[in-house]
Amino acid sequence: MKRSTIHTDRRKRMIVANWKLHPSAIEAARVLFTHAERAAAGARGIDVVVCAPYVYLAAGSMELQRARLGAQDVFWEQAGAYTGAVGPRMLKGMRVSHVIIGHSERREHFGETNETVRKKVRAAVSAGLHCIVCVGEKSREGDPARSAAFVKEEIEEGLRGVPKKYAKRIIMAYEPIWAVSPGGPDTPENSTEMALFIRRIFYGMFGREAARSLKVLYGGSVNAKNAEAFLREGGVDGLLVGHASISARSFSDIIHIAGRARRVRV
Ligand code: PGA
Repeated sequence: MKRSTIHTDRRKRMIVANWKLHPSAIEAARVLFTHAERAAAGARGIDVVVCAPYVYLAAGSMELQRARLGAQDVFWEQAGAYTGAVGPRMLKGMRVSHVIIGHSERREHFGETNETVRKKVRAAVSAGLHCIVCVGEKSREGDPARSAAFVKEEIEEGLRGVPKKYAKRIIMAYEPIWAVSPGGPDTPENSTEMALFIRRIFYGMFGREAARSLKVLYGGSVNAKNAEAFLREGGVDGLLVGHASISARSFSDIIHIAGRARRVRV
């Protein structure tokens, strides 16, 4: 696939909030939803998704219209004796359209593997959810070839067996683990390389059209100061924002920046 055939101009920008285990009270969640909605309504041509803890999804489904509602995880079964689990159809029923799958914190603290990612993605896309699938290497200093091989394996194993017709429901997030807060951000040069690499792997699995329309996000210590650089020069279609998304001000600023920043062609 030639570089010129996979430029990103035709894909709509996407800004995703990942609140993680925040905020601690529903009132604060409502404030964040309200501000995200307002910023989303004011920014043209941007898809905004707010991935909130399960307990705030009902509030989110009331507050969000222009912005979309997302979850941070999902189980792979639709129903059954699985105490504590939440299935894809339950999320759909709450007006959830997106779900983050395979975040590095889920892999680290909850024992998720490429195999659980695969089961979750397959269940979620077949229920009509859009999956934001996270991949990324552990260390900045490691051998680049090994990092690439690690990411390749995450994608190939995590998405194996997903029917081609559902490829359009997948969004890839490149989140190098070392860059996630409290680490420091990656560089736009590296995210460009990795976005291209991820798109190539997707091409190999799902074909040209799917690779062309695939959105690749960057995540890891994104804030209102560095968002523009990643959006303009980072070769990505959007951002996955953790800590800066639990400040109404920062997240709104990032959405506004995304509405303004022009892309440099890769
Ligand atoms: P961060 O988190 O922006 O706080 O680094 C990003 C993420 O983990 O999705």
